Amino acid sequence: MTPLADDIDRGTPASQAERTVSLTIDGTRVDVPEGTSIMHAASVAGFQVPKLCATDSLNAFGSCRLCLVEVDGRPGTPASCTTPVMQGMVVRTQTERLKKLRRGVMELYISDHPLDCLTCAANGDCELQDMAGAVGLRDVRYGYNGDNHLADTKDESNPYFTYDPAKCIVCSRCVRACEEVQGTFALTIDGRGFESRVAASADVPFLESECVSCGACVQACPTATLIEKSVIEIGTPERSIQTTCAYCGVGCSFNAEMRGDEVVRMTPSKSGKANSGHSCIKGRFAWGYAQHKDRILKPMIRASIDDPWQEVTWEHAIGHAASGFKRIQAKYGRTSVGGITSSRCTNEETFLVQKMVRAAFGNNNVDTCARVCHSPTGYGLRTTFGTSAGTQDFVSVEKADVIVVIGANPTEAHPVFASRMKKRLREGARLIVIDPRSIDLVHMPHIDADYHLALRPGTNVAVLTAMAHVIVTEGLANEAFIRDRCEADAYEEWKAFVSDPSRSPEATEAATGVPAETIRGAARLYARKGNSAIYYGLGVTEHSQGTTAVMCIANLAMVTGNIGREGVGVNPLRGQNNVQGSCDMGSFPHELSGYRHISDGAVRALFEAAWGVHLDAEPGLRIPNMLDAAVDGHFKGLYVQGEDIAQSDPDTKHVVGGLKAMECVVVQDLFLNETAYYAHVFLPGSTFLEKNGTFINAERRTQLVRKVMAPKNGYEDWEITLKLSEALGYPMHYSHPSEVMDEIARLTPTFAGISYDKLEKLGSIQWPCNDAAPEGTPVMHRAAFARGKGLFVLTEYVATDEKVGPRFPLLLTTGRILSQYNVGAQTRRTANSLWHQEDRLEIHPHDAEQRGISDGNWVKLASRAGATTLRALITDRVAPGVVYTTFHHPDTQANVVTSDYSDWATNCPEYKVTAVQVTPSNGPTDWQVEYGRHSEQSRHIRHAEAVPAE
Ligand code: SF4
Ligand code: SF4
Ligand code: SF4
Ligand code: FES
Repeated sequence: MTPLADDIDRGTPASQAERTVSLTIDGTRVDVPEGTSIMHAASVAGFQVPKLCATDSLNAFGSCRLCLVEVDGRPGTPASCTTPVMQGMVVRTQTERLKKLRRGVMELYISDHPLDCLTCAANGDCELQDMAGAVGLRDVRYGYNGDNHLADTKDESNPYFTYDPAKCIVCSRCVRACEEVQGTFALTIDGRGFESRVAASADVPFLESECVSCGACVQACPTATLIEKSVIEIGTPERSIQTTCAYCGVGCSFNAEMRGDEVVRMTPSKSGKANSGHSCIKGRFAWGYAQHKDRILKPMIRASIDDPWQEVTWEHAIGHAASGFKRIQAKYGRTSVGGITSSRCTNEETFLVQKMVRAAFGNNNVDTCARVCHSPTGYGLRTTFGTSAGTQDFVSVEKADVIVVIGANPTEAHPVFASRMKKRLREGARLIVIDPRSIDLVHMPHIDADYHLALRPGTNVAVLTAMAHVIVTEGLANEAFIRDRCEADAYEEWKAFVSDPSRSPEATEAATGVPAETIRGAARLYARKGNSAIYYGLGVTEHSQGTTAVMCIANLAMVTGNIGREGVGVNPLRGQNNVQGSCDMGSFPHELSGYRHISDGAVRALFEAAWGVHLDAEPGLRIPNMLDAAVDGHFKGLYVQGEDIAQSDPDTKHVVGGLKAMECVVVQDLFLNETAYYAHVFLPGSTFLEKNGTFINAERRTQLVRKVMAPKNGYEDWEITLKLSEALGYPMHYSHPSEVMDEIARLTPTFAGISYDKLEKLGSIQWPCNDAAPEGTPVMHRAAFARGKGLFVLTEYVATDEKVGPRFPLLLTTGRILSQYNVGAQTRRTANSLWHQEDRLEIHPHDAEQRGISDGNWVKLASRAGATTLRALITDRVAPGVVYTTFHHPDTQANVVTSDYSDWATNCPEYKVTAVQVTPSNGPTDWQVEYGRHSEQSRHIRHAEAVPAE
């Protein structure tokens, strides 16, 4: 396989020192930063010193003794991986003495190794094999009959990789990867000397251990001891293409390693700026859904949602969809149809869908699934700072002294960033967690939160405003920063507002459930200690006061001056891979790309000239308004690309009511999802492996998604939108997504400097990228805020209308789990389901006991909106009065119980607070039984001869 540039392993991490030193290695002079190891310097000079226990993603360990070198003026043969360079040093890496010593070391390893190279899955991709060659090993003097580990049993419990101790050389790379890179500490070297072996947790099978299947140990292993099962099954890869993970908003870069057109494995790219060579279980292993038998590969239509699906040609399906939309518009008016873009799709695809809606439908009825997650981030940060995005890059956390995590669970939902954050915490950064639940970060190996503010769901604004009260009233405000960088009048007004005793921790303690002293301690820590950075998630946004809470966070950052440099800032952790991009691309009904209001005549004129159409100046409908209008009979047609609103949007009954009332629902997706049950046309979508485009992660980082195989459905998603638009009478002409990006750059000032050529050159670019910042902007608002002066906004706490009472005395909040992703459409079709086969309801032991519920019992979870059943998990991770569940399985449908309350500014649903009752149950509710039946029926496809084009 041709190595990518970032495949070169220099043995030890690069030194970050500024001063350089000069030395001579094998007669070649080399200049490297102070603190570099001899091994790393030799690699830079072009000499590969033999090594086994060293790899440049881990700190040097010095155990294998293969990397010995000679240094003039020093006795002995130091290990080059653990010896730092010195000015004027003269090093030799190849002498007769060294060769002999290295051969001796290799002889010992090989004498206890099964010599099955020809049939070993790692043949040709094994460092032990390479090193035997590199040291010229030709014979093993000790023979192969001594004590050995050849009969040790393999552990094949993990669905994605095996552990074969017979091949282990006990180099500890796996153990160190689990500690240093992943931060899980699942592995140890058990026993001493000859008995030493790698053990997972208390020497249990990997699947039963604390291992979270990130794969870092597999990647670090120099032998076939830890190896991907896909390599065992398919063979070693022959080529590699760099692309971007399609799961979460971390946006990890991967090398898709291929044999033919088959993916053999996904290896995280060391050059990926978001992930620096690390990954989680989803990105590295859970890509098998692309080949899953449930995938729909042929377009289908049906006259009514009660009919079976009928496979048709692409032309027929597109013609059917277009004529449906045209007929509806002719009968019900121009605004009776709309479209929904997806944060799972590329920027280019999203841009084209909103363009099609505005230009071909002739209205602004386009919205995105970000409506239901981070729309308050857009509104809140735009109001206070002037941009709808996070302020930092991920690496910034390495300079944070205090880390605040609010309403986010990074170890489950943003695991690769969590590993970076955990590393910083292990180095001594302090931690404040604000969450109703005791998330993993609160207590984990080598990490203990300084403060855990276990607030009652729905009280973020009261807690954050109380923190501001402490900062202002205790004189902790950074007045110099505020004077220079923020609007003075707004600050004075805000200062008086938060100083009011009614907003103190003591006054709000009863409502928030957080002891006043805890809030005071957390506020002091955040305000006083060097660089403080806030990371937040949907536990902040998905509330009726989601936007207010985002503004509270911005206020805290401004009042303490924690903005505009590394190590600080306000960082929304985006859920899906392209939430940032789908918002940037003009997916909201009131905004064109780059968050420019549709009512702005000058902006509209720019787009009208480029697109050759007249644009409506009136904002269109948001998703909930589309559904309301459908129920009222005014909205009749919807094009949904890559989104499953029937499962992911709140108040399922209402969503279903809206969908059922429509006459033409067109769903474009990989699988027949829940929304497709109500669709009339199904257009098969392509996976991220089958298309070109870009995603933008939570750091505003645009990265290329590269096609590694032909689309199994025949077309990339952007091509399907082009076909539909043409059939609607508005042809769009692009031959490659790069041309769509060129148009985005021409029309959007923050993207002006972005092109595929530049992305190829730089690897990734954080917007804004323009003449002022030709290579992008890692940290925003350095000298001034995007809006000029930062704006403090008053954040009055208003309790949600969703109240607990005798009928519904508990508060339900929801979240994610590591192995699954969102509604689970992809991950449930992989072996990840082994870790999470069902959604469970977490309930405190006290609440469970009161209700006669034991662990694992079926319980009914009921709210004012509806009821579902699931099994109970009794745990004190939740406080009394609070219950929690995930929402990954359609047969649970947590959204059946969520209310239709939403954020005052953006309509983002209040997923995180629902008043519920929990009672013992005998099993699934009627609708769940019915769901099982109808979902089977809806999947009935008439595999008739494809119907020819009309
Ligand atoms: S897969 Fe990850 S978590 Fe599991 S043992 Fe390996 S490094 Fe640790
Ligand atoms: S499993 Fe691999 S990485 Fe771990 S000690 Fe054995 S050979 Fe080294
Ligand atoms: S952290 Fe997110 S982007 Fe990275 S591999 Fe996991 S799911 Fe993919
Ligand atoms: S590589 Fe240096 S001691 Fe193993």
